[in-house]
Amino acid sequence: MSTQLLHEKKRIKENENPTKIAIAKGDGIGPEIMDVVLKILEAAGANIETEFIELGEKSYLSGHTSGIHPSAWETIKKNKIIFKAPITTPQGKGYKSLNVTLRKSLGLFANVRPVQAYSPYVSTHFPNLDVVIIRENEEDLYAGIEHRQTQDVYQCLKLITRPGCEKIIRYAFEYAKAYGRKKVTCMVKDNIMKITDGLFHSVFKEIAKEYPNIKSSSQIIDIGSARLAANPESYDVIVTTNLYGDIISDIAAEIGGSVGMCGSANIGNKVAMFEAIHGSAPDIAGKGIANPSGLLNAAISMLAHIDQSNIADKIKNAWLTTLEQGYHTIDIYDKNHSKEIVSTVDFTERIIQNLGKEPENLEKSDLSNGSGSISIPEYKRQKQNKKLVGVDVFIDWQGNDANFIGQELSSLDLYKMKLKMITNRGVKVFPNGMDETYCTDHWRCRFISEETITSKKDSYNKVISEQIISLLFKLHENGFDVIKTENLYEFDEIRGFSLGQGE
Ligand code: NAI
Ligand code: MG
Repeated sequence: MSTQLLHEKKRIKENENPTKIAIAKGDGIGPEIMDVVLKILEAAGANIETEFIELGEKSYLSGHTSGIHPSAWETIKKNKIIFKAPITTPQGKGYKSLNVTLRKSLGLFANVRPVQAYSPYVSTHFPNLDVVIIRENEEDLYAGIEHRQTQDVYQCLKLITRPGCEKIIRYAFEYAKAYGRKKVTCMVKDNIMKITDGLFHSVFKEIAKEYPNIKSSSQIIDIGSARLAANPESYDVIVTTNLYGDIISDIAAEIGGSVGMCGSANIGNKVAMFEAIHGSAPDIAGKGIANPSGLLNAAISMLAHIDQSNIADKIKNAWLTTLEQGYHTIDIYDKNHSKEIVSTVDFTERIIQNLGKEPENLEKSDLSNGSGSISIPEYKRQKQNKKLVGVDVFIDWQGNDANFIGQELSSLDLYKMKLKMITNRGVKVFPNGMDETYCTDHWRCRFISEETITSKKDSYNKVISEQIISLLFKLHENGFDVIKTENLYEFDEIRGFSLGQGE
């Protein structure tokens, strides 16, 4: 079974029912740009029915800490498509990010951010820039699972899942296929995070094989972002995890010209949400000068998503024509290429007048000529043999002599388990640590079976849960402050945990 995310481009039939859309006007410049964008959609003949929902500042301040009025959930669940202007997150305690709440509650796993240059009409250092960042939207450090564990040490859990990787990476290749893109680049940091980022990279390699007509390559995120900033024209589609994607999509948008120009789509199996990438711009709210292009581009992606690519093309071509004619809002005004600074409303009027025209020099929009559909098969859970081989016990200890705690732990009778090593912030400090290593109060003590390592290289002997529970009891009895444990597993004899640095 597969889920259709982006449907066959078919012409809208006269009598087809309009697609219902939940619309949030947002805060700051939100209402100004939403009103004009809806006017353009209407003038272009978009077959949609709007239903307004309340999100953002007013909801926050009226006591809904997640920024969304309960009635809005019903409208969203019913309509499945959200078109959202930027909102203001009030400063202060207790307010949760509405964007994160929406993405995660609605399973919007893919954040798609196309960034394009419109040179020479909009100034940019990169006239051939045309990149799409596809960012995983639900997991990674954004799972938001954080703990303070000792006086000195705080932790944030980075969760990367196989279904999450498969979905986003397949989405990236399917997107490339549907929109005639040539290359997908994966960016992660798997030289350091071999297990989590390593999974993302290996799933990327697996899935890339299924798309022989699309080039694939991988870069480590640090050099990848540097090259994206210096030479963005060499990228086509980039797929990455949540945090890196958050960062590089802002880099790409910033070097592409104005933050006012880019739209973004948040895609899930059931619901999709479209918005501009910028915020509510309170500094220019109410002045009538905001650039509605980011929200308009989001609307264009939305129309393509709901089978109305022909209307999407018509709007985009009118917008490109307006850019070529030099009628520019102030954020993209430049005396060499612009003819006139226009207000939000005048810019909109120009676009409406240009409906039906095509740009002369900029590449015309041809969404309705894409190959059509993106489908993501349902994830099939894998079954591998899971073997418990040890435990990492994290101990809060205020001392600083690793040999002392190491010898103390080694001297205990631990139910046929033995201390293999101790690390502090990941660096091995026992046995044979270095005096120079700085130690905090957070000691990871690794216990494995007392019997020697199995014949297979890199594989450990099995232990049973009861051994671990007894071990914890023994540590507690001996005054050790255990703050957490992490079981060590092998999956089909492959180690499912990292080694200590220096192990
Ligand atoms: P911002 O994106 O609102 O503004 C940054 C700068 O870009 C400002 O100088 C602004 O005037 C300008 N700008 C933004 N959009 C523009 C447009 N369409 N036309 C012309 N100029 C434009 O970011 P900022 O100031 O950091 O955040 C303001 C508020 O927006 C905050 O409350 C923030 O939490 C919220 N925000 C909401 C987002 C959303 O709803 N998706 C995303 C980002 C921020
Ligand atoms: Mg961000």
